[in-house]
Amino acid sequence: MKGVVLAGGLGTRLRPLTRVTNKHLLPVYDKPMIFYPIQTLADAGITDIMLVTGGNNAGDFLRLIGNGEDFGLRHMNYAYQKNEGGIADALKLARYFVGDDKVAVILGDNFIQGSIRCAVGDFGKQPCGAKIFLKEVPNPREFGVAVLDGDKVTRIIEKPADPPTNLAVVGIYFYDSDVFEICETLKPSNRGELEITDVNNEYIRRGVMTYERIEGWWADCGS
Ligand code: G1P
Repeated sequence: MKGVVLAGGLGTRLRPLTRVTNKHLLPVYDKPMIFYPIQTLADAGITDIMLVTGGNNAGDFLRLIGNGEDFGLRHMNYAYQKNEGGIADALKLARYFVGDDKVAVILGDNFIQGSIRCAVGDFGKQPCGAKIFLKEVPNPREFGVAVLDGDKVTRIIEKPADPPTNLAVVGIYFYDSDVFEICETLKPSNRGELEITDVNNEYIRRGVMTYERIEGWWADCGS
């Protein structure tokens, strides 16, 4: 399974901090934000990783992360996103890196306390489709929100004004290689982005979406 860390975007919700640098380079405790999601993948045994970033500070990621030595990696792959087209748009850049493999996608501003190692094992046995992670939150309006029916996710609504549940969709997604074909069919949302929620809803429509609940804390440092 390949790993993709998405670290593009303008970080508008963190201005003025992000006027002169990329959000994912900002410090969180004693490390740059981007270190945490890379470590989450490496700890789960995913060592073939691509980082997708863009903007004026893209070169700083090379100097900071190099070949991944800080994470016990021997190699790091990079892709450059020319425009701010959203999460699903950034993911398209990993198409030839992932090939026919499965992929774990993690947003560069998402932190989890626990491990995804078991989930990686479970997804390895899942014949096809996708897996998302859910966490109960007090502020579901700020996230993608999942609606469940027993052990199935029936729908995800992006930042609903009137959330039907308090189950936020965490910024970690597992996909089979169909994800790239699905990304090509997307239309920009009201915020002008290709939404990862539209990708997930397509997997739900196909009946091949599974989910797990995240144990321990989860933080999205985007705001
Ligand atoms: C994105 C997704 C959202 C998800 C969140 C998790 O939101 O669109 O569904 O719940 O990440 O961090 P964004 O940070 O792009 O607003």
